[in-house]
Amino acid sequence: MAPPDNDSQSLNTEANTVNGKHLGSADLDEQHAELVSKYISQFDLVDIGSRQKNTASDLKDVRNILVTGGAGFIGSFVARKLVVLYPEYHIYVVDKLDYCGSTRSLKSLGNFPNYTFIRGDITSPDFMAFLLKEKQIDVIFHLAAQTHVDNSFGDSFEFTKNNVMGTHVLLEAAKVHGIKRFIHVSTDEVYGEVVSRPDCPEDTILAPSNPYSATKAAAECLVKAYYMSFGLPILITRSNNVFGPYQYPEKICSKFICSLLRGGRCFVHGDGSNSRKYLYAGDVADALDTIFHQGQVGESYNIGSAFEISNLDLAKRLIRLFGLEDKMDEHIEFVQDRAFNDRRYAVDCSKLERLGWRPKTPFDVGLVKSIEWYSRHANEWWGDIACALVPHPLKAMPPYENSQMI
Ligand SMILES: NC(=O)c1ccc[n+]([C@@H]2O[C@H](COP(=O)([O-])OP(=O)(O)OC[C@H]3O[C@@H](n4cnc5c(N)ncnc54)[C@H](O)[C@@H]3O)[C@@H](O)[C@H]2O)c1
Repeated sequence: MAPPDNDSQSLNTEANTVNGKHLGSADLDEQHAELVSKYISQFDLVDIGSRQKNTASDLKDVRNILVTGGAGFIGSFVARKLVVLYPEYHIYVVDKLDYCGSTRSLKSLGNFPNYTFIRGDITSPDFMAFLLKEKQIDVIFHLAAQTHVDNSFGDSFEFTKNNVMGTHVLLEAAKVHGIKRFIHVSTDEVYGEVVSRPDCPEDTILAPSNPYSATKAAAECLVKAYYMSFGLPILITRSNNVFGPYQYPEKICSKFICSLLRGGRCFVHGDGSNSRKYLYAGDVADALDTIFHQGQVGESYNIGSAFEISNLDLAKRLIRLFGLEDKMDEHIEFVQDRAFNDRRYAVDCSKLERLGWRPKTPFDVGLVKSIEWYSRHANEWWGDIACALVPHPLKAMPPYENSQMI
């Protein structure tokens, strides 16, 4: 097994290229640049990208940033980006380390003086109030959530607790403490399926259709309410499906990749005609950085991709990338569809494009990068992942009979 790409053995390569190519515009002191070249791999640096050129004038004195859910998939991209590119900010990551989170995803940041990891649960009002005050938090990137639609057909109370209550607790703590930005990371799924209507602009009425997206929409309502009622400086983001390395392999791209790496099958829900648009995680972290530094308080921003593919075609594309096209049928199995499965989502992201953001990573480039990463790390990152690779990884509710015991 090759060492993790953040091990020191693989980190000292191409230090000059790294500094020159990706951090050219950053006003990094020498010590920070040294840490970057020592601990951040070339693999991650490509995704970390470069600093935002413009910053809203009221953000000039921002010092402390809290990233919730930073040990998860997208949160870890955001944390790496902020720590590496902005040494003037101190990045606090709070995460309860649920089954899908791993401190391994943040290991490369451990030696940076502008980074602190705190294990904790955002649903605890006392803890969050203490944290915001103690660390003098100026800005919150809120990503912590239960995120897997399949699970939400099982124990959906967990989704209400973490996604709705968790967001409410955070908003209340932010209101009492006072902050400069609350960036709430939501999803395109809040619009519901988009079949015979145009791509959704941000003012589309929300119409979620599964328990996961319903809790994300409910959380958004609270976020908007805190803006209207208390003037909390919020921004909301709604993105397409996100894929890439570091994602717990329960979502379709990472799950198919990990199954194929084990010589297994891609379990296709229904007839596989449902389609999704995909964004590489590095591009989404870029979008969140753009929205933080340049977005308008009170506004929502779609983060969209033009690239769309059906679930069945995605399976076929990956099987071809693995060089297994002559065994296509052996690696695809059609299974029962989800309880409800939106046919497609589509957002109009022209508003974000006007801030200068564009996705940079072509789908196949992101897939190949993901395959490379999972082939090295899938078996060690989260422990045993076999339970995620089944057709429907439901985390079921406690049975009704047991709840009637008293
Ligand atoms: N992955 C996607 O395709 C996608 C698309 C659009 C929007 N989003 C949104 O982006 C955000 C991040 O998604 P992701 O895919 O990185 O999720 P993820 O499941 O990989 O990570 C979520 C993280 O949140 C943590 N967490 C959950 N509940 C918590 C709590 N109560 N307190 C502290 N930490 C908690 C988990 O431990 C985990 O590390 C979510 O809000 C999600 O709804 C994701």
